[in-house]
Amino acid sequence: MKKDTPSDAETPKTKPHKKASKKKLIIANWKMNPTSIAEAKKLFLAIRDSARKSKNTITIVCPPFVFIDALRKLYTKSTVLGIGAQNVSLESTGAFTGDVSAMQLKSVGAGYAIIGHSETRARGESDHDINLKVHNAILEGLTAIVCVGEGSRDDDGEYLQLVRDQISAALLDVDRTKLNHVVIAYEPIWAIGQNRADIIDSHEVHKMMLFIRKTLKDLYNDDRAMETQVIYGGSVVPRNAADIMGEGEADGVLVGGASLRPHDFAHIIEAA
Ligand code: PGA
Repeated sequence: MKKDTPSDAETPKTKPHKKASKKKLIIANWKMNPTSIAEAKKLFLAIRDSARKSKNTITIVCPPFVFIDALRKLYTKSTVLGIGAQNVSLESTGAFTGDVSAMQLKSVGAGYAIIGHSETRARGESDHDINLKVHNAILEGLTAIVCVGEGSRDDDGEYLQLVRDQISAALLDVDRTKLNHVVIAYEPIWAIGQNRADIIDSHEVHKMMLFIRKTLKDLYNDDRAMETQVIYGGSVVPRNAADIMGEGEADGVLVGGASLRPHDFAHIIEAA
């Protein structure tokens, strides 16, 4: 463990089909990139071609809100490609300047929404907000990609409790039968944006995947909760992607920086 950085479409539109759990989920989190719609289209078309070549993956591109509608029009019916948002309002409609609701996202063809990313948490999003967002997303049939992860690690393992608490707060009052609309993304903050393949090893990823699956089982007191997809994010690059999804047993990856580099992202999809 490196601790040197402290710290479809019917997109798989709304209903993740049953087989989805077998396919690896490759999420592109573009963050506030690229700078224009022209560049966004170019990047999306490159990713679309890579996604179509791989039958064992579902690639979900999460661009800034303003690009969603246009990109959604660049493909038809797909079981391997979809669009998601990077956030969703905790409100459903009304006077909430700057917000975008789950219903609005669904109306332009988004099937997924990233919720509770460390970068939105850092801007003041609370566990309660995240829980409301998860409920709104699920209510509209979106799949909520719930991000959890510690800022730094301690020898006493307190970070495990933090991850457990984040999961239990995000899923408060979410029925077990709705977990097929939930993906947990483990994203240790110290690993995000480092663009270094060795930032985390597959053994460590594996331990966290098991820990999160066990947390879900305990939370619901039901083995079936362990079928929830659990993915890893934080400096996923072509060189570590296969190990993270292989030995690490992650059900997929959430990719930031490398999702803006079509060649690298194609390799990550291939690795799955
Ligand atoms: P990264 O970002 O792949 O650039 O580390 C991941 C994320 O923040 O979702």
